[in-house]
Amino acid sequence: MAVAAVTRNYWPDGKCAKAFWSQQEVRPYRRLLRDTLDWCSPAAAERWLDLGCGGGPLTRGLWDRSGGAVAEVVGLDCAAVNERAYARLRAELTPPPRGQVRFVCHDFSGGLGPLPDGSFDHAVSGLSITYAESYSEAEGRWTTAAYDRILAEVFRVLRPGGRFVFSVNVPEPAWWRVAAGSLGALVASGRPLRFLKRSARMMRYGGWLKREARAGRFHYLPAAEVAARLTAAGYAGVEYRVSYAGQAFVFRAVKPRAN
Ligand SMILES: C[S@@+](CC[C@H](N)C(=O)[O-])C[C@H]1O[C@@H](n2cnc3c(N)ncnc32)[C@H](O)[C@@H]1O
Repeated sequence: MAVAAVTRNYWPDGKCAKAFWSQQEVRPYRRLLRDTLDWCSPAAAERWLDLGCGGGPLTRGLWDRSGGAVAEVVGLDCAAVNERAYARLRAELTPPPRGQVRFVCHDFSGGLGPLPDGSFDHAVSGLSITYAESYSEAEGRWTTAAYDRILAEVFRVLRPGGRFVFSVNVPEPAWWRVAAGSLGALVASGRPLRFLKRSARMMRYGGWLKREARAGRFHYLPAAEVAARLTAAGYAGVEYRVSYAGQAFVFRAVKPRAN
């Protein structure tokens, strides 16, 4: 079928997943991580969901910032290879987790099926929910149904009063601005060739992502539209800031407590 041939999704591929493991080396990404974790402000005994977790940089941040006192961090991602990254992460964390940090391989475009209602205190997501995809055979086009579904699904799995902190890319992200902010890391890496190879790989996937966003498959939406969709899904206290060398918004929204 023509649609399937043209529109292969690379995210579940090990190669694509691994290309993003080294994101943390660049300064704009580290800033994004800091901005996101500042709004997470994790505390002891909390249960966290890390959606589209990749190699787990946000999971690591939640663990470190809470001094290992969170009750649970579940990293969820469609790329099975990230299980390996989580195994490594668990071995590196201090204090060492005893079952509190785990990985679930799941495609969130269809929702968060296996996760029970109200099972998390808070949720975090780094540059991921944008990639929830839904194709309407009847209309012959990509739609935003999966994007709205993931907002609704996070709402479902949060307890009342729970926060959803996430980043998403701005419309038509200028990857070169991120690259320009990474030059210091190139010098500091001591292995410039390896660094350039990794960056080139990420830029290639970046080109694919932008093309798909233009086709309506992925969703680099204006901040006002993300805010409107959060409000429509029932969230309150929606706010955002700009980060990642101007190429991402970090959002924070709350599931209201029942009256
Ligand atoms: C840009 S990477 C960000 C990874 C990580 N959050 C970080 O900050 O480094 C996007 C992540 O979203 C995941 N992803 C994309 N589409 C997904 C889907 N439909 N279901 C689950 N994960 C998905 C990818 O596998 C990838 O790990």
